[in-house]
Amino acid sequence: MSGATEILCIGAGYVGGPSMAVIADRCPHVRVTVTDVNRERIAAWNSDTLPIYEPGLDEVVRRARGRNLFFTTDVAAGIAAADIIFVSVNTPTKAFGEGAGRAADLQYWEKTAREIMAHSAAGKIVVEKSTLPVRTAAAMARILNSNPHGFEFQVLSNPEFLAEGSAIRDLERPDRVLIGSAETHGGLRARRALADIYAAWVPRERIIESNVWSAELSKLTANAFLAQRISSINAMSALCEKTEADIDEVAHAIGTDSRIGPKFLKASVGFGGSCFKKDILNLVYIAQSYGLHEVADYWEAVVRMNEWQEARFVRNMLATMFNTVAGKRITLFGFAFKADTGDTRESPASAVARGLVDERAHVVVTDPKALPNARLDLRDLQDRVEFQDDPYEAAAGAHAIAVMTEWPLYRGLDYQRILARMVRPAFLFDGRNILEHRALFDLGFNVFPIGKAPLKRL
Ligand code: NAD
Ligand code: UGA
Repeated sequence: MSGATEILCIGAGYVGGPSMAVIADRCPHVRVTVTDVNRERIAAWNSDTLPIYEPGLDEVVRRARGRNLFFTTDVAAGIAAADIIFVSVNTPTKAFGEGAGRAADLQYWEKTAREIMAHSAAGKIVVEKSTLPVRTAAAMARILNSNPHGFEFQVLSNPEFLAEGSAIRDLERPDRVLIGSAETHGGLRARRALADIYAAWVPRERIIESNVWSAELSKLTANAFLAQRISSINAMSALCEKTEADIDEVAHAIGTDSRIGPKFLKASVGFGGSCFKKDILNLVYIAQSYGLHEVADYWEAVVRMNEWQEARFVRNMLATMFNTVAGKRITLFGFAFKADTGDTRESPASAVARGLVDERAHVVVTDPKALPNARLDLRDLQDRVEFQDDPYEAAAGAHAIAVMTEWPLYRGLDYQRILARMVRPAFLFDGRNILEHRALFDLGFNVFPIGKAPLKRL
């Protein structure tokens, strides 16, 4: 590498956009270009309305865009100019053929490798930013190094650990940055070059280095462990509901053990997001393909428990509302898979909405940021679902409200005003345990939290 470093990122999504914006912001001497095949997305990155909502993102993009941060659809020119190419394309679960429903669909990934090879006039550092099956770097290196010119490519694994809603904070102050490479002279040199970029703002002791397979597998392992904590606490929430134990008290009690720790122990209607389920199922597939069936079954249970928790939530609503919701208006407060994002991928709200529509309910969805995505996700349900910006209008005439997303806004609503326009008895199912249950009960609601005794007058 010589002169000012040129970085290209292929894939301008939830990871590519924010992570490159932060690199550009923190490294003014580096020129960062982000490219995507999706023209609308690139146009939005170049506009005042960015394609994703993420607190703090607008400011970072505004500081760097046009200075050393560029968004373009010209993948070929970007590849030709780059020293370091991050690949941050989507790696969804395969929907067809061998491994369907579990394995990662690597078609976008492989296409990218071939594009890099086609447009490169020299060897480059290629960085896996997407989450990939362990040993993908071997396939990537094999494709790239099959180029007829003898150019040498180094493939690094630099998985991204940001969470949506806190992406900018996670990128600016990461717990760690992980860089894996081949342990050859060229691999170690490439590893150092990437570490030097991050060192502009990340303390060196937080930049962890490993072999490339460890880096790839660490990403799948981190997501599996995080999701497992949620499934574990959700399993206990069901037991709490049977025994009058309180899940928040249990979580607090165990979380004070420094070996367990307090984070990621919030019981909920279920975990969502584009990655937990897909990455665990990918892990399951990998374990199965090595004949490690017990390992596969162990991790698959994390996903099954989550599906059970979502289904249990709907069953609980149905049983509580006299075993029928047919024709009843039911309002979902929130549709995003978590607060502070407009992303609805794998949102538990979608499973709940569909479960209720199957029971012939009329579902009303409200959300401060996720309504455009909610409309797309539920477009097949047409007249069974309604969308409302205003939570008061959404709840008017409803038999029940179910909190799906922990938006702080839902804590601050005037529930007296809401109750006045609801059908009695009025039901409130708090799928996130964020509301003041006792106060709402005193107002006149029948309140059904997760993992706590219900407060009801029935
Ligand atoms: P995304 O779907 O939001 O973005 C991926 C982008 O890649 C899309 O805009 C798509 O058009 C583009 N793309 C696909 N093929 C392309 C090609 N050949 N050339 C140019 N562009 C192409 O996905 P995402 O959420 O950003 O996730 C990307 C990867 O990062 C996934 O592997 C995911 O598992 C991982 N990841 C995601 C998160 C997250 O919070 N979303 C966090 C950590 C890791
Ligand atoms: C998760 C990981 O936290 C990131 O480290 C990782 O990079 C990312 O996946 C990824 O690989 O895509 P994300 O899905 O954006 O990030 O959001 P989380 O904060 O992990 O929440 C995931 C889901 O779990 C949400 O639906 C959330 O509401 C739920 N959750 C989280 C709970 O139900 N309880 C908790 O205690 C925590």
